[in-house]
Amino acid sequence: MIRDRPLILLAEDEPLEQRMLQTLLSDQGYATIVAESGQQAIVQAIRHRPDLVVLDLYLPDMTGMAALREIRAFGALARIRIIVLSGYVEAEISRQARRAGADAVISKGPSPTGELLREIRKFLPLRSVAKPSVSATPAAPAVLAPPASRGILPRGAAGKMLGRFLELRPLPLLAEEILKASTDPRSDVKKFAGILSQEKTLAARILTLAHSAFPSSSPAAARGPMQNLGREVARLGIPGVRDPALALLLVDQHRKASGAGADVTLDRAALWRHSLACAVLARDLAAASGGDAARTRTLFLAGLLHDAGKAVLDDVLPEEYPPVLARAAKDGIPLHVAEQEAFGIDHAEASRQLLIRWQLPGPVVEAVGLHHMPVKDLLKKSGEILSVVGLLQVADALVKASLTCDSGERILAEAPHALALAGRLGLDAEKIRTVLGHLDLQVQNLTLAMRLHDEAAVPTDPVSPSDKAAKTKIPRGLPAGGRLKRAR
Ligand SMILES: [Fe+2]
Ligand SMILES: [Fe+2]
Repeated sequence: MIRDRPLILLAEDEPLEQRMLQTLLSDQGYATIVAESGQQAIVQAIRHRPDLVVLDLYLPDMTGMAALREIRAFGALARIRIIVLSGYVEAEISRQARRAGADAVISKGPSPTGELLREIRKFLPLRSVAKPSVSATPAAPAVLAPPASRGILPRGAAGKMLGRFLELRPLPLLAEEILKASTDPRSDVKKFAGILSQEKTLAARILTLAHSAFPSSSPAAARGPMQNLGREVARLGIPGVRDPALALLLVDQHRKASGAGADVTLDRAALWRHSLACAVLARDLAAASGGDAARTRTLFLAGLLHDAGKAVLDDVLPEEYPPVLARAAKDGIPLHVAEQEAFGIDHAEASRQLLIRWQLPGPVVEAVGLHHMPVKDLLKKSGEILSVVGLLQVADALVKASLTCDSGERILAEAPHALALAGRLGLDAEKIRTVLGHLDLQVQNLTLAMRLHDEAAVPTDPVSPSDKAAKTKIPRGLPAGGRLKRAR
């Protein structure tokens, strides 16, 4: 990962210490990010691949030693230098920390900065002291030693990191409240509407998505401006609002890359454009093939979320994923095949695990996980699973073809395998042509209504650790003094 300044992760929960260390290090020309707990430190280490971690031995949720062991257990993080800071450095503590993988152990003592800086400079020498520039001219590159070369991930490492990352990364505050309310038997429509009413702009986007899960001909899909939140929730039902709400919050959390910049990054705007088109098309194909409301809604959500795993892999493997994207494009091989070869898992599996973490409905999770299943295997299945996964695959293939074609006729010619699969699912070319005829306009309208075109509508990720200040920012769209509080 090319950076203009070495990146240091400070795992320290004391605000004063954090500020002191950040000032000291940025003054020396280092970039810093902060983690206030052991779990945050592990997530940040995976997402940002810092060059060095300064790890306090006493963190609120786990010992620094446990965090150290866990970071060292990920092969992909082996090159990160780790300096452990301890109140008292006894020989035994020092031995344990070094055995666990610490590169140095330093006493906090009354004035730890001199020794800490010496150790840091030893591991991350600077060509010159490059103070952050206050002028418009960016600071000159300061790294003397180039970052360690990218290693090939040990077998199983990607899956392990993905699992731990999904487990530790907090969900947005509103998602936590929605999930809590939906498992509380005392929750009713009023309580649910109350939760959504905390953020009106977001609630309007959620309701737009909830109505869109119905086929365009359905009365539930047609709605004007939001009048009464309680009435809307009652009309759609709690699951009918809960699932689209979670889906939208998931999309928002993955609209921006969370890691530090890599050489080639996933085009997230294109990813979500493709996903929204798949959602609309899968929904309408389901309706055209005679599917009931439950199937059309499952397909809408599955279409929207089927490729979310690409964004997660991009977050978890910021150094390893871009070359895989580049290789798939250069060699013309399907991305999921290139992912399997490189990591032993693909984005369909990453999406499946992500959706389980967000507690989305089982049929949606299953369809998403199977969206790259070979057609010959899929055709051995029957019933709902064949219909749902088959329609999702048809929609995915047609949307991909529509990127290069401009008419329904040419799209069908471009994707003969999709047409053959559709035939097995009760859809003839005429029906598909009719659905494709409405696709563009619907996707455009939904993009605008959901503000998916609008970068400013992306809320600040509450765990985005780009710097300490990010955590205190009020997410865009929240009323001043936003009322959401993270449950601790
Ligand atoms: Fe995919
Ligand atoms: Fe796709």
